[in-house]
Amino acid sequence: MESRVVDLRREPGSRVLTAAFYEVKGLQPGERLVLLTAEEPSLIAQSLDLQLQHRLAWTAVREESGWRVEIRHRADVAPKDLVDLLTRDHQRLDGLFARALQLVNGNELAGASPLIREFASGLRRHVEAENDLLAIRLPLPRDPAGVDPLSIMLREHEEILGQLALIESCYEDGAPESGEVAAFMAILSGTLAKHEYREENNLFPLWEALLAREAGEARDELLARVEKMLKG
Ligand SMILES: [Fe+2]
Ligand SMILES: [Fe+2]
Repeated sequence: MESRVVDLRREPGSRVLTAAFYEVKGLQPGERLVLLTAEEPSLIAQSLDLQLQHRLAWTAVREESGWRVEIRHRADVAPKDLVDLLTRDHQRLDGLFARALQLVNGNELAGASPLIREFASGLRRHVEAENDLLAIRLPLPRDPAGVDPLSIMLREHEEILGQLALIESCYEDGAPESGEVAAFMAILSGTLAKHEYREENNLFPLWEALLAREAGEARDELLARVEKMLKG
């Protein structure tokens, strides 16, 4: 694969991040970009990744005259762990949802319909993987008051599936109204954003810690099962 090489070694320190962002922001799956930097590039790469909603995967190697950072789209690189796999699926679902909402807001309800169907089946598979596979395979302690991360996840899934069914019900009689669909989508959008944030920060690290205690083979097998379930 051909790589575009951008030499930032003579760029003043204060400008390196901005210059790198300009080069990397349009990176698409299948593309590869090499940045040459004078300083150790970890902070720059992390910062770029954060600004681009975690779309990047990179490796950095020391060279005689500085550092060589090879950047690829995250979609081109196998997920590195369970958190990465689930977080990527959140992002994929969020992307589908955002595109569907854009069409609904533009009153293109027929155009939004296949995206909503794809989103709905992806979301149901995601919930199934979390509820029926991971919650059982990586059991976490439950609190009687239901305030532990697992209980919160299970409760929010019920809520999310209920809100999803409301969106789908708008399409059932064949004449959806964009205002109504958009209103239900706005509700789900808020619920989902909070839910994903809580999972990624409170629950997934606990699952990852449990998984880290297992043998490599068992870990890989579980990751493969989750990946298969998410893909459907
Ligand atoms: Fe979830
Ligand atoms: Fe999730």
